[in-house]
Amino acid sequence: METFTHFVTHLSSTKLLLITLTLLLYTPTWPSSAAATQTEFLRDFKATPDPSIQTFQSLLADPNGNFSLGFLRVNKTQLALALLHVPSSDPLWLANPAQLARWSDRTTLVFNGSLVLSDPQGRVFWSTHTKGDRVVLLNTSNVQVQTQSSVLWQSFDFPTNTLVENQNFTSTMSLVSSNGLYSMRLGSNFMGLYARFKSGSNSDQIYWRHRAMEVKAEIVEGKGPIYAQVNSDGFLGMYQTGNSAPVDIQPFNTFHRPVNGLRKVRLEPDGNFNGFYWEGSKWVPDFQAISLPCELPSRCGAYGLCGAGNGSCSCLDNRTEFRSGECFPVQYGDFCSGGLGEISNFWVIRKSSVELPYKELMGYQTTSSYGECERVCERNCSCWGAVYNNASGFCYTMDYPIQTLAGVGDESKMGYFKVREGAGRKKMNVGFGVGIGVVCGALVIFVGVAGVWSFRAWRRKRRGGGGGTKRFTGQDGGLSPGPYEDLGSASFRSIEMGNNGR
Ligand SMILES: *[C@@H]1O[C@H](CO)[C@@H](O)[C@H](O)[C@H]1NC(C)=O
Ligand SMILES: *[C@@H]1O[C@H](CO)[C@@H](O)[C@H](O)[C@H]1NC(C)=O
Ligand SMILES: *[C@@H]1O[C@H](CO)[C@@H](O)[C@H](O)[C@H]1NC(C)=O
Ligand SMILES: *[C@@H]1O[C@H](CO)[C@@H](O)[C@H](O)[C@H]1NC(C)=O
Ligand SMILES: *[C@@H]1O[C@H](CO)[C@@H](O)[C@H](O)[C@H]1NC(C)=O
Ligand SMILES: *[C@@H]1O[C@H](CO)[C@@H](O)[C@H](O)[C@H]1NC(C)=O
Ligand SMILES: *[C@@H]1O[C@H](CO)[C@@H](O)[C@H](O)[C@H]1NC(C)=O
Ligand SMILES: *[C@@H]1O[C@H](CO)[C@@H](O)[C@H](O)[C@H]1NC(C)=O
Ligand SMILES: *[C@@H]1O[C@H](CO)[C@@H](O)[C@H](O)[C@H]1NC(C)=O
Repeated sequence: METFTHFVTHLSSTKLLLITLTLLLYTPTWPSSAAATQTEFLRDFKATPDPSIQTFQSLLADPNGNFSLGFLRVNKTQLALALLHVPSSDPLWLANPAQLARWSDRTTLVFNGSLVLSDPQGRVFWSTHTKGDRVVLLNTSNVQVQTQSSVLWQSFDFPTNTLVENQNFTSTMSLVSSNGLYSMRLGSNFMGLYARFKSGSNSDQIYWRHRAMEVKAEIVEGKGPIYAQVNSDGFLGMYQTGNSAPVDIQPFNTFHRPVNGLRKVRLEPDGNFNGFYWEGSKWVPDFQAISLPCELPSRCGAYGLCGAGNGSCSCLDNRTEFRSGECFPVQYGDFCSGGLGEISNFWVIRKSSVELPYKELMGYQTTSSYGECERVCERNCSCWGAVYNNASGFCYTMDYPIQTLAGVGDESKMGYFKVREGAGRKKMNVGFGVGIGVVCGALVIFVGVAGVWSFRAWRRKRRGGGGGTKRFTGQDGGLSPGPYEDLGSASFRSIEMGNNGR
């Protein structure tokens, strides 16, 4: 019912009247699935989304009615199996964040030992892969598949972007921001935040790290893995399994102060890692891993510049205006794809008084001058840019598209940034590029046709000698100019978030 009231707050009073009338008139035929919130699923459970529901269809509730598991409508047509904090309608967990289903009566959720979200074509969006007797939702917000005597599966072991009070977060888990760009993971003695500025595995850039302080307890090597937990006493703790004393405490504002509502931490789409508590009517911010805006991993987007002092956004390229949250469209790949090794399909921005917000966590090499640092990057086709500290001689190189740099009041910190040809030149040049493409294409076709023709002529003369054919078959491979590749890979986020809807 709370979700319904939430839905209602978004409507005007006339619509409200209409809906109330509709409800009054049609209550007897109101689809039963809409109101069928249960306290457990047994083996015959089956549900499909109700087409009339616009936001959330509750299916399973905890004993206090604080939490609800059900169908959440995403982007009008898509469906996520979600766990909501009912008073705030805030999703704490999604079963299938990477593979959304369709909001259609053909999508079903069944419990047959496994909790399975699938469609009639046999496509399984998500499954617990268990052989349990029932599904329950505990008053902690943990969804469990149980048998009479044991717990086979629990949602607490598969967090999305949020951890709630008393949920154990181990080193085999990760939190991922809703846009798929950022993740939180544990190391052997630290907690780290990572950015995926470049698609493909193992290319994450760490941008925040909190080492365990080991004040109340020390980490004993080989004594068990570490895990993190939001403690009801107002801190984010790290523990070593088998020892109840924390090896680390990151205090919230309400440290040692009891609060009535739920506590949670969440990895945000901007890469920050924030804590909140529920105050009865709203979530109150209680913790922030990164407190200075310019220290966020990419506050102003690709090729942005975060102003020292007030954190305002501009662009590294002083001829580009910072508009609608970006400087250049997001770029992908590297400069190696042309096959010539050192590829020159880029132009360069040079800027002084800039530094990388997370340079302390980056590798670097020492060079004798800025010029040498620049050359290291210029010659390397997987390098997107370099930042040099003239005082220390440290040269930091980036093997991913340039993100936001922080402005500093120190002229001796200098940056060199490659920009893909075509990126900043906007519409006119896109047209120009297409024109060039058409001309080049026509040329290639002409050369190809002429080639094939002369080849045939040559073969007719010689009969045999197939050695020359390779050259011709190889030619179609060279027809893809850079910008088109960009288009192909531009859906990195949507792949991360929802490889779906098909
Ligand atoms: C929802 O739609 C918006 C705009 O069409 C899109 O940018 C976003 O990626 C979509 N979200 C998901 C989860 O598919
Ligand atoms: C439950 O249903 C899913 C999807 O229809 C199926 O793949 C799975 O084998 C079933 N499990 C059992 C135990 O019947
Ligand atoms: C939650 O459930 C546990 C046992 O299942 C119980 O001991 C505890 O009091 C409950 N907490 C609340 C707030 O209802
Ligand atoms: C979290 O871990 C502790 C220590 O290993 C354990 O006692 C507790 O039951 C776990 N909590 C949950 C919800 O799994
Ligand atoms: C759950 O609801 C009960 C009563 O409805 C309330 O006292 C309690 O604080 C709530 N718990 C959480 C974690 O929100
Ligand atoms: C922020 O500071 C810059 C100069 O450092 C200035 O140009 C800009 O107007 C300031 N913006 C705001 C919103 O104060
Ligand atoms: C942009 O920066 C370059 C190099 O720092 C400088 O020479 C040029 O005058 C600047 N242009 C504008 C419009 O500020
Ligand atoms: C090129 O840059 C990448 C990433 O910065 C680095 O891993 C690689 O070793 C560099 N290659 C050479 C030949 O310097
Ligand atoms: C960089 O350092 C060198 C000597 O260490 C100095 O001569 C030069 O002026 C500095 N350049 C800048 C831009 O600060």
